[in-house]
Amino acid sequence: MSLAKIRIVGGVPLHGQIRISGAKNAALPLMAACLLTDQKLTLTNVPKLSDIQSMTLLLDQHGVQIDTEQDRFELWAKDITNTVAPYDLVRKMRASILVLGPLVARTGQAKVSLPGGCSIGTRPVDIHINGLRQLGAHIDLTEGYIHAQAPQGLTGADITMPLISVTATENLMMAATLARGKTRLINAAREPEIIDLANCLNAMGAQITGAGTDTITIQGVEGLHSAQHCVVADRIETGTYAMAAVITGGELELTHTSVDLIAQVAGTLKQAGASLEATEQGLRVRAPTIPIQGVDIMTEPYPGFATDLQAQIMAVMSVCQGASMITETIFENRFMHVPELCRMGAHITVHNASALVRGVKSLSGAEVMATDLRASVCLVLAGLAAQGETIVNRVYHLDRGYENLEQKLGACGAMIERIAA
Ligand code: EPZ
Repeated sequence: MSLAKIRIVGGVPLHGQIRISGAKNAALPLMAACLLTDQKLTLTNVPKLSDIQSMTLLLDQHGVQIDTEQDRFELWAKDITNTVAPYDLVRKMRASILVLGPLVARTGQAKVSLPGGCSIGTRPVDIHINGLRQLGAHIDLTEGYIHAQAPQGLTGADITMPLISVTATENLMMAATLARGKTRLINAAREPEIIDLANCLNAMGAQITGAGTDTITIQGVEGLHSAQHCVVADRIETGTYAMAAVITGGELELTHTSVDLIAQVAGTLKQAGASLEATEQGLRVRAPTIPIQGVDIMTEPYPGFATDLQAQIMAVMSVCQGASMITETIFENRFMHVPELCRMGAHITVHNASALVRGVKSLSGAEVMATDLRASVCLVLAGLAAQGETIVNRVYHLDRGYENLEQKLGACGAMIERIAA
């Protein structure tokens, strides 16, 4: 685990172009989808991230042959030699739970470690488990593992999900592609990553309709075949760099992405005084000519304001004119960036799920540390705007979700460097 740090000297308005990478949260389920077929799945535009490396290691120990060349991954689950996803791999990346549905659907069994919680919340997986039970799997939870059996295969069912869950929707959608008959996922998540996964599965021969709406219908098929799929652009990275332009008073063009992926965030940034316009290659973001205006924000499942951009918008609002009430409705403990921002001079008070941000004229650099990948990048944004030097510790969080962060920001004028521990 890298103990390197990121050093930033703030106060430089960013100008230039940033290429947005493929979405981490699309690439992870897409990689797991290779388990559903004994033919090759080729993915392009795969981001170079440590979470992708973790999923590669996990699939490798299931027996998947993975050949990579830059952003191109060829995954071949010809034979699945091991249906156990061990604790030491799953605990490092919760998204490992995404192999559960495909393993059960393809082999009739799986033993996957319960992911456990993380810094932002307890993050249960009951919706994944109950959904698979409704598809006919027999599941025991013993010794910290999910033991799933479906020796006769899975049978389609109507599954009403009690909460909108992104990876539960993905897990059950993948499992249902090989179930006998029809499955409907009701109260499904609607994220673009789910549409991207459905598009890839359909290219592999699945019969999925309704992805992107709250009801997804999957008609089971005998088997899936090879396909090639390009990973959708990362909307969280897009939103993050759009906010980098705003907080530094600069202007950035973000390419290989689309403003449609961040419609709600774009609306918030426009209310704050920024301008965002679609361009040939993606979008252009200009900071307000007046001080950033305070805007109230509530995180919600897509198409609402993304919880993965909550920490970042809080950094922006910490230097707004006026105030901003930010309410986190998805996770129960996602304000750990608040004390770190306050150490940089932000004026934020938290009451339960809401943080009141009273804008200050400017932040001052400090040594800070983060607890998850989105809180880390929030501190980078704050450092880019702060007067003086900011040192962000625990850089390994950043490397999970942001490809070439220093290079992308440095190319636009940021004074940012990685320093070895
Ligand atoms: C996905 O996590 C993302 N991860 C998260 O991104 C993102 O924050 C989250 O969706 C919400 O958008 C990936 O896609 C790999 P959920 P996921 O299931 O699927 C509760 C990042 O920074 N819940 O949509 O785990 C849960 O506790 C990460 O890239 C249950 O109660 O999130 C939460 O309160 C962080 N039971 C709510 O639902 C379940 O079985 C939404 O969680 C599942 C979820």
